[in-house]
Amino acid sequence: MIPSVLPTYTRAPLHFVKGEGAWLTEADGRRFLDLGAGIAVNALGHAHPALVKALTDQAQNLWHVSNLYHIPQQQALADKLVEHTFADTVFFTNSGTEACELAVKMARKYFYDKGQPERVEIITFDGSFHGRSSAGIAAAGSEKMVKGFGPLLPGFVHLTFGDLDGVTNAITDKTAAILIEPVQGEGGIRPVPDADLKALRQICDDHGLLLILDEVQCGVGRTGRLFAHEWAGITPDIMMVAKGIGGGFPLGAVLATEEAASGMTVGTHGSTYGGNPLGCAVGCAVMDHVADPDFLAEVNRKAALLRQRLEGLIATHPNVFEEVRGSGLMLGLKCKASNLDVVKAGFDNLVITVPAADNVVRLLPPLTLTEEDIAEAFTRLDAAATQVDAA
Ligand SMILES: Cc1ncc(COP(=O)(O)O)c(C=O)c1O
Repeated sequence: MIPSVLPTYTRAPLHFVKGEGAWLTEADGRRFLDLGAGIAVNALGHAHPALVKALTDQAQNLWHVSNLYHIPQQQALADKLVEHTFADTVFFTNSGTEACELAVKMARKYFYDKGQPERVEIITFDGSFHGRSSAGIAAAGSEKMVKGFGPLLPGFVHLTFGDLDGVTNAITDKTAAILIEPVQGEGGIRPVPDADLKALRQICDDHGLLLILDEVQCGVGRTGRLFAHEWAGITPDIMMVAKGIGGGFPLGAVLATEEAASGMTVGTHGSTYGGNPLGCAVGCAVMDHVADPDFLAEVNRKAALLRQRLEGLIATHPNVFEEVRGSGLMLGLKCKASNLDVVKAGFDNLVITVPAADNVVRLLPPLTLTEEDIAEAFTRLDAAATQVDAA
C-alpha cells in the first residue's frame, strides 16, 4: 500500500523534534551535530533568537495579505537585497524551483520585448540542479531527473561542465542566456573557477546574452561572501536565491538588473504566497546578520578551521576520502568509499551530512557554527570514517 506521504524520498530513520544552533534532537533524545542545515537552509542555525522573534512578532500581527497590496516587510527585504547586491529589483518566491521558473521567463520575455522572439535558448551544464519543475528538470537535463516526464520544456542546451569553448561554439541567434551555479551543490560541490565565471560574463557581454546565476544553494553567505559570484568580481543579470535567505522559512527570490527585468511588466508574473509578510520578516532578520561584514569574516575564519580539520581527516583516512573541495562553509568530501556509507556511519556517530553526486559527502553547516562545534564535527566524522574503514 502506498504510504500516506508520497514515497519520493529515501528517508533515514530519524525523526528530529527540536533544533538549537547546530544541534538537532531526535525523538529518542539523541543529539546530532547538524552539518547539513536542511541542505544549506538554516543559515543562522536552528531556532536563532532573532529569527524566532521576527517570525513570532510578525505572526502576532499579520500572516498574509496578497500581492494586490503593498507589503512593508517585502519592501524592506527587497530594499536590503538591492542595497547589498548588483540587483535593481526583486521578485519573491517560495522556493528555488519557483525562482528558476521566473528566471527562465524573465530571460525569454526580455528578448521577446526587444523584438528578438527567436532568442529562447538557455545554455546549462551537466551536473547542474535547478529544481524539480518542468523548467527546472529541462534545464538540468539529466536522465535521472527527466526520464518519464516528457515532453520536456524545450529551449535548453546542455554542455559539459567547465567546457568554455563549448559555450562559444553553442551560441546561435537563438541563444538568450547562460544559466549556471557558481558552485554546483547537488552535482557534488563543484566550484566554477573564478576565471571561468569571468569568461562567461565576457561571453555574455560579447554576444548580448543574459547571465543567470543560480545561487539557491551557494548564496546568502554560504561561501564566505554574501553571494558566491562576488569572489570572481563579476555580476549577473539575473540571480536565483532561496534556501538560506529564509533561514528555514520557505522563501526564495529572483534578483535582476533593471535592464534584464524590463519585460516583466504588470500582469506578466505573480505568486500567491511569494513575498508573504511572515517569510519577509524572517528574511529581513537573516539579511541583517549575513550582510554584516563581521559575520562574513567569521564565516571565513570558521571555514578555514573546518577545512584544516577536514584535510587532517583525509590524511588519517586515505581509504575513505580523496579530497576536500568547495568554498567557505559549502564543502564536499570526495569519497573513495561509498558516500552513502559515510553518511550512514555519520548517523551512527551522531553527525548529519548530506550526500551529493560524484560520490561526495556535503558539509553545509549553519554559518553560525562555533569552534567547539568544529572540534566536535572532527571527532564525529573521524569516528564515522573509522567505522567505514573497518567495514
Ligand atoms: C542550485 C539549486 N537550484 C535550485 C534548487 C531548487 O530549490 P527548491 O528545492 O527550494 O525548490 C536547489 C535545491 O536544492 C538548488 O540546490
